[in-house]
Amino acid sequence: MKITLSVLKADIGSIGGHITPSQALVNEVTNFVKENGKDTLIDFRISYTGDDIAILCTHEKGVSDEQIHKMAWDAFIAGTEVAKKQGLYGAGQDLLKDSFSGNIKGMGPAVAEMEFEERPNEPFVFFAADKTDPGAYNLPFYLGFCDPMYCAGLILSPKMSDGFTFRIIDVEYTEKDKIIELNAPDELYDIAALLRDSERYVIESIYSRSTGNQAAAVSTTRLHNIAGKYTGKDDPVALVRVQGEFPATGEVLAPFEIGHLVAGFMRGSHNGPFMPCKQNATISFFDGPPVVTGAAYCVNNGILTEPADVFDHPFWDYVRTQVSEKASAIRRQGFSGPAMLPYSELEYGGIVEKLEKLEKKFKLVD
Ligand code: F6R
Ligand code: MG
Ligand code: MG
Repeated sequence: MKITLSVLKADIGSIGGHITPSQALVNEVTNFVKENGKDTLIDFRISYTGDDIAILCTHEKGVSDEQIHKMAWDAFIAGTEVAKKQGLYGAGQDLLKDSFSGNIKGMGPAVAEMEFEERPNEPFVFFAADKTDPGAYNLPFYLGFCDPMYCAGLILSPKMSDGFTFRIIDVEYTEKDKIIELNAPDELYDIAALLRDSERYVIESIYSRSTGNQAAAVSTTRLHNIAGKYTGKDDPVALVRVQGEFPATGEVLAPFEIGHLVAGFMRGSHNGPFMPCKQNATISFFDGPPVVTGAAYCVNNGILTEPADVFDHPFWDYVRTQVSEKASAIRRQGFSGPAMLPYSELEYGGIVEKLEKLEKKFKLVD
């Protein structure tokens, strides 16, 4: 059976700052999707990561379907009404346009979608991150799909020995989607050269070269490119099919052990280590650290199993302790050097005004 797996997520308000949505908001979105997705969806799950709420769903309408996107948009509007009523912080924060115009992409919420012929056993992982941007997945997905040091299947499984095709998007170009396709392992150094700059070049999708089947889809929205000003970090979601011709679940998870430094954290303007957390993780230290959660599912004729929480295991407790040490280490240097993002990536306009004012006070002296 050919199905579409879609995840649509938005920050539409949270308790006590940018921490976590309220139960009433989650209930409202859940009930809305249950009621309004009756005729279109095969199945769905609602979850949250930090202050972002995600609608994961299956259907047969293909990617970028207007009806599916409109239903999600309306669910976020309904959730926003509850957020406003409860006085939640940042109510409707990610809904950047006044009315729906056919596709939720470019309107604030993040979207990742894949249409595929279901395999007899179809496992996948749904990743959701908060307090960071889509480039956060560059390193773990590069390592999980290209590097035999992390993905043993590249050496051990004949189904994977042809490698993978990466579609990489230049998110700085906003007129259209500007995309390059590169093959691993042949063009590994070119892939690395782009992915190094994770604020500009972002993995959009990954395909198996032996079957042509899609392995991964990442939401690539940059909110500041839509709004032209700070509206929160992009907080990307991703879908990754696993096993068989794709990396095993554990191979995809392995690089998250690094807790690599990503852009985001406090005010979307710092670097902080990417912490793998349990489902429905909240946010704390310095409005962070940037978190990622992972829910593994199997899907059969579009029907989803319950999620398996991939980072809920004693191993990841140990990782979280190490990542916390890394977070403290970089935070101890405050605004200095790489702890804070470069000027171009700072999410607040205030510093621009400050520097303009100071510029006038500089004097040229011999
Ligand atoms: C929001 C975020 C937070 C906020 C910070 C200030 O996703 O990352 O760090 O930027 O709490 O929030 P405002 O400007 O809304 O008071
Ligand atoms: Mg927020
Ligand atoms: Mg968020």
